[in-house]
Amino acid sequence: MMDIDNLKDEISKFKASSQEQLEAFRIKFISRKSVIGELFGKMKEVPNEEKKAFGQHINELKNLAQDKFQELISDLDSTPESASGSSVDLTLPTSFAPLGSSHPITIIRNEIIDIFSKIGFNVSEGPEIEDDWHNFTALNFPPNHPAREMQDTFFLEKDPDIALRTHTSSVQIRVMENEKPPIRTLSPGRVFRNEAISARAHCIFHQVEGLFIDKNVSFVDLKQTIYFFVKEMFGSDTKIRFRPSYFPFTEPSAEIDISCNICGGSGCNICKYSGWVEIAGSGMVDPNVLTSANIDSEEYTGFAFGMGMERMAMLKWQINDLRLFTENDVRFLEQFKSL
Ligand code: PHE
Repeated sequence: MMDIDNLKDEISKFKASSQEQLEAFRIKFISRKSVIGELFGKMKEVPNEEKKAFGQHINELKNLAQDKFQELISDLDSTPESASGSSVDLTLPTSFAPLGSSHPITIIRNEIIDIFSKIGFNVSEGPEIEDDWHNFTALNFPPNHPAREMQDTFFLEKDPDIALRTHTSSVQIRVMENEKPPIRTLSPGRVFRNEAISARAHCIFHQVEGLFIDKNVSFVDLKQTIYFFVKEMFGSDTKIRFRPSYFPFTEPSAEIDISCNICGGSGCNICKYSGWVEIAGSGMVDPNVLTSANIDSEEYTGFAFGMGMERMAMLKWQINDLRLFTENDVRFLEQFKSL
C-alpha cells in the first residue's frame, strides 16, 4: 500500500516538457509492462480478504495515471515547441529587422512646414522639369540676363526652353497664376544646379520658398514672419540680420543671416569666423512678377523668401559635408532614428 501511495505522489508531481518525457511517463505508468501493470500481476498473491481493497487502490492508481497522461499530452500540445512539430524553439525572442528612419531632409522639411503652418501657410508643389517662363521669365529675369547664368541651369539640349528648375520660385508663379490673393504658401522641393559636387556644393539640393500676397503686405510682415520662424527653429536666443541684396524677382531684396548656432556668434570655421551664417534670400515681390501672374500690383503687395533645407539641417545638427545627404550611408542616416 505504501508503494501505491508513493506512486500516486510521483504521478501527480510528474512534469513533461518534451515528447521524450511524455514517452517515459507512458512506459513507466501506462504500458503493459508499467509499474501499474506489475501491480495488477501481483493481485494473485494478495490474500482473498484484501483483494477487494487492493483492487480498488490499483484501479484508482491506474485512473490517476491515465488522467495525468491526457493532461500531459494537452499541456505539451499547447506549448509552442510541440505545436510547431519541429525543433525550432518558438519561445525564443525574435531577432528584430532593423527599423528605418526618416531622412534628415524629410525631418527638416516637416519641421519647417509645421512652423509655418502655425501662421497660416499651406504647401504647394510643382514640377521639377520646368519651362523658361516659370523658372525665369515670369520671375522678371530679362532674356539673356546674366542672372540666368548665376543659377547654373541644366537646360534640355534639344529644347532650351525646358530646364531642371533651379529654385522653387517657379512653384510660386504657378500658385499665383491659379489662385486669387490672399496667398500664403510654402513650396518645398528638389532643385538642380550645374555645380561641381563638394562638401559645400551639390548639383541636387532642396529649397523651401515662402510667398505671402495680400493687401498692404509690407517689409515689416516679412521681418516678423522670419523672426517667428528662426526663433521656433533655432531657439529664442538666435539673432537675425537682414543684408541688402539683389534678386530679379524681389525689390527691395535682402539676405537673411542668423547668429552662428555652432559657436554662438563668437566665431568658428562654419561661420568663417564672422559669427553669422546666411540662411535665406528674401524680399518684396517685384510688381513685374505680380503682373506676369495676372495679379493687380496696385491692389496687392507681397513678400517672398527662399532657403536651403540642407543648410538648415547642417546648422541644426552640425553636419559639415553636403554629400552626406545624398550618399545614403546608413551610418549617417541611422543617427536620425530618434527624431
Ligand atoms: N529663389 C532664390 C534662390 O533660389 C531665393 C529667393 C526666394 C530669394 C524668394 C528671394 C525671394 O536663390
